[in-house]
Amino acid sequence: MVNAFENIIKSNLKGQRKTIMSVLRKSPMFNVTALEIKGRMIRVGKNHWVADFASCNYLGFDLDKEIMASVGPAVKKWGVHPSWCRLVASPEIYIEAEKRLAKLIGTEATLIFPTVTLIHIGVIPTLLGKDGVLFLDKSAHETMYHAAKMARDSGSKLISYYTNDFETLEKELKKYRNVKKKLICVDGVYSMTGDYANLKILTRLAKKYGAIVYVDDAHGFGVVGEKPTKQNPYGKKGNGIVKNLGINYDNILYVGGLSKSYSALAAFVGCSNKMQRFLQAYAPPYDLSGPCPSASLGSLIAGLNVNEKKGDELRRKLYSLTKKTVDGLRRLGFMVNNSTYFPIVSVWIGNTDILIESSKILYKNGILVTLGPYPMIPKGEEVLRITVTASNTEKEVEMLLSAFEKIKNFMRKKKYPLKRIV
Ligand SMILES: Cc1ncc(COP(=O)(O)O)c(C=O)c1O
Repeated sequence: MVNAFENIIKSNLKGQRKTIMSVLRKSPMFNVTALEIKGRMIRVGKNHWVADFASCNYLGFDLDKEIMASVGPAVKKWGVHPSWCRLVASPEIYIEAEKRLAKLIGTEATLIFPTVTLIHIGVIPTLLGKDGVLFLDKSAHETMYHAAKMARDSGSKLISYYTNDFETLEKELKKYRNVKKKLICVDGVYSMTGDYANLKILTRLAKKYGAIVYVDDAHGFGVVGEKPTKQNPYGKKGNGIVKNLGINYDNILYVGGLSKSYSALAAFVGCSNKMQRFLQAYAPPYDLSGPCPSASLGSLIAGLNVNEKKGDELRRKLYSLTKKTVDGLRRLGFMVNNSTYFPIVSVWIGNTDILIESSKILYKNGILVTLGPYPMIPKGEEVLRITVTASNTEKEVEMLLSAFEKIKNFMRKKKYPLKRIV
């Protein structure tokens, strides 16, 4: 008998995914099971604890007492899951959360979906229809690629361009100036480098050629916000990259993630009332997929309260821990890709075997990070990706730096450079 499952698995075991998985499987930082957590320390073996530098709970809301306490009452009030389709009904906290998010980011309305991925695959093909054009930043998050391919399969044109290559982008925009539906899709804050999108130039081009800039701010929302100063380097309120750059939403469709800074399974589109009504009716996962669990809606509302009370203080702490991490790594001689002190810190390793060995050193010395091997990123650009959160401690950062010193000694012994030789 032909085993259909075997056939499917075997015939798909190829390509980039196969290479990535074969690399990751050699590292102890793959499929780790957390047995216990205490703050940002995780027990991963009998007596083996690691400091977590792989989480995106940037504000530490996953561990905040007030937010944790909000889950029980939300579940008591609404049950564990409001499984109405949202076109039929939504619990009141959904509406409260949407209104408060709109007020925070400064748009007329917001529309909550369970994840950013669902927003991408629902909203991007819906906006473009059969005859739009999508200009996709090559460094945009992979989830946007999936949505872009769906739009292309429906008949829209897909054009990709390198980040900040505005000359190419403008040339392409000009070519399609008469097409009515045009989207430029970018990350607000890039997920591997923490760099900010150049929204000032992008919105200028969008206005000139009648396009919309679709901004995935999964990482930026909660961390960066309005009016950055020396005292508040990320800005205030954590109300996202558009406010941080001091521009308006005229040609922007903003997508905020809540599964990172807000530690809640939810995401939202920031838009006009008219666009909100359009997406409610036309973006499929809104009506066809289950809504967010009550626990997440409850913790989101509590998170908004905590953000008002002490968000800026947490962001100052986050900045200080990130600065200590970046400066410490640079002092050790590593090449660190971080131009903004955003809490995504990629350390260049540049070779897959050395990357695996380095991950073993980190893990043995009580540190958990994320690996960026080839072909997830280009050959020769392999990185160890550190994410810092406000609930990490100074002591944990010192542990991290001391583990990186061991990597440095290992690389020296191997006569391998700490920096890319150009
Ligand atoms: C930039 C970016 N967009 C989207 C996502 C996916 O977000 P979600 O888990 O809400 O689908 C991620 C997750 O890592 C991300 O980094």
